[in-house]
Amino acid sequence: MNIILLGPPGVGKGTVAGKLSEKFSFPHIATGDMLRENVAQKTELGMEAKNHMDKGLLVPDDVVIEMIKERLQKKDCEKGFILDGFPRTINQADQIGSFTKMDKVVNLHVSDELIIKRLGRRRICSECGSIYHLEYMKPKKEGICDKCSGKLHQRKDDKPDAIINRLEVYRKETEPLIKYYQDKKLIVNVDGSGTPEEVFELVVEDIS
Ligand code: AP5
Repeated sequence: MNIILLGPPGVGKGTVAGKLSEKFSFPHIATGDMLRENVAQKTELGMEAKNHMDKGLLVPDDVVIEMIKERLQKKDCEKGFILDGFPRTINQADQIGSFTKMDKVVNLHVSDELIIKRLGRRRICSECGSIYHLEYMKPKKEGICDKCSGKLHQRKDDKPDAIINRLEVYRKETEPLIKYYQDKKLIVNVDGSGTPEEVFELVVEDIS
């Protein structure tokens, strides 16, 4: 099954995608993670993406579309995949639609107030990318990943100014995709305000 997780920054796409990937053994493909890896390795693509990402702006479509096309051709995507953070524009959606068929588009939604609470206190493992929250999903030992003992850090774009930009960009560029996929009868709307386990159960029910 080919699934897209749609929704504003901080709604919980990465958290749900990780659990879906474990349950169904489909790869979790997150464009944000792929771009951050390129930034860390100082690749040409990463150098181009960095400025946009730090400010909370979208990376140019052609860069992201090429990266995803390449990724989806890998063998582990043959039986299905979970896209997190792609597509984010109508152009990206048209492009992916021209080379692969989607089965479900899960639209996660919560209030802006909750988004700001979630992003402001998010922490990420520098080694394995696991996601934590200082209040809702605390690591057992402060600053250390439960899974791999890597150090936890705050993303640069989780600072207040960048969060506001990301929400504005989401409303302008990405929210129109809800209607786009509604017209294709692929959307399932899921309330993302429960606990991670509750949200995951709702998503599994709705895509089954
Ligand atoms: P990306 O990394 O995709 O960021 P995002 O879409 O802004 O989403 P986030 O990763 O911030 O949030 P999430 O919804 O995954 O929430 P999470 O599960 O972490 O993109 C970053 C940047 O890369 C973009 O700004 C852009 O520059 C660029 N980019 C990426 N894709 C692109 C594309 N296609 N085109 C162009 N540019 C692109 O949860 C958030 C927090 O809440 C965590 O702390 C978590 O522990 C907590 N939490 C989650 N669920 C719950 C819950 N149910 N209850 C309580 N706490 C919860």
